[in-house]
Amino acid sequence: MAHLFNRNVLVGVSGGIAAYKSAELVRQLQEIGASVRVIMTRGAREFITPLTLQALSGNPVHTELLDTEAELGMSHIELARWADLLLIAPATADLLARLAAGRADDLLATVALATAAPVLLAPAMNQQMWRDKATTANITTLTARGYSMVGPASGEQACGDVGPGRMAQPEVIAAAAAALFETGLLAGKRVVITAGPTVEALDPVRYISNRSSGKMGYALAQAAVDAGARTTLVSGPVNLPVPDHARLVKVVSANDMLEECLALLPECDIFIACAAVADYRPAAIEQQKIKKGPEQITLQLVRNPDIVATVAASEYRPFTVGFAAETNDLLAHARSKLSRKRLNMIVANDVSDNSIGFNSDNNEATVLWPDGEQAIALTGKGSMARQIIQLIAREHGAGDTGQSN
Ligand code: CTP
Repeated sequence: MAHLFNRNVLVGVSGGIAAYKSAELVRQLQEIGASVRVIMTRGAREFITPLTLQALSGNPVHTELLDTEAELGMSHIELARWADLLLIAPATADLLARLAAGRADDLLATVALATAAPVLLAPAMNQQMWRDKATTANITTLTARGYSMVGPASGEQACGDVGPGRMAQPEVIAAAAAALFETGLLAGKRVVITAGPTVEALDPVRYISNRSSGKMGYALAQAAVDAGARTTLVSGPVNLPVPDHARLVKVVSANDMLEECLALLPECDIFIACAAVADYRPAAIEQQKIKKGPEQITLQLVRNPDIVATVAASEYRPFTVGFAAETNDLLAHARSKLSRKRLNMIVANDVSDNSIGFNSDNNEATVLWPDGEQAIALTGKGSMARQIIQLIAREHGAGDTGQSN
């Protein structure tokens, strides 16, 4: 069944009579799992009140571009980044024209320009307006730019005309929105993803770990599932919902993680190492709680195995992707890790910047492979994950699998 679990859907409502159906659309999107926020144009507010959509979406409705208070709450740029999908329903003839012209004359049009998320339009207008050459040209322009369309349907219109121009039914729009995320790029592939931190015990109550939230790994698992892959997450302790249709293997320490990953390798086409593996673990785990003693004590640590490098060197060698978290000389360090660990691809991100990486919801990265690289601009982790999966599918499909079996 179509679903939008863990998806942020930004619904744009413009001013047409079909705006009354947007209320039902918001409800249906939530029913299939989406988090919904709404932007309304001035015209939309003549047809339906923001209060209705606020009550249904459970979030304040955004209406103004130039409103300092609203910008303090969630700026238009934050809204644009929050969205995994911008869904405009209804999209009136005027809105299509403004989008085609690239205008930024209200909040909705500005967010459409500012978002890296896919845009889905559900046009609704009088049949003659729909058939007009200007509208046809605008639709051609927007489609060529990568916007997706659902509808319009044909039939009797609010104005009494009969013909194409009715907004598609809310359930049809919700299904089209869900279908956008199912890319089929990795159909039939088996993907293993490590995620989260590892936890290295010192004694029965203490441990060494790190602040990895696991968000990036879990977002990658969602994107891999959407791309049609049979996906397994090997995850350290985190507090995140497991994407539907992904299998979860829970681990604690780096040694556990390595063991589980090696067991999965015979059935793995693509391995993505997103976990923040502790490089060292205590040399011994005390069986009893260590008691307070001298003013100073020294902890002896030993190196943990390098999981991604072990996978890349194994006889099963899947297409292997690593991450490089760096505070300086990002690309040079990442390229050296790519070749040192014999990876097919590495995602480099700068962890000196607190607004991205680790616990943040946003990320910015450069993806490198032996003969190329591509930057991914600052965006939500969901959108970043989809872009990484696209690149993996492309490079893996290009035959650069490095498989030895
Ligand atoms: N990694 C791993 N096993 C380890 C350490 C790291 O599989 N014991 C993986 C991470 O999941 C990531 C990549 O290796 O995909 C790079 O991790 P990073 O911490 O940036 O690199 P390190 O190898 O630990 O190098 P350094 O700490 O010196 O930067």
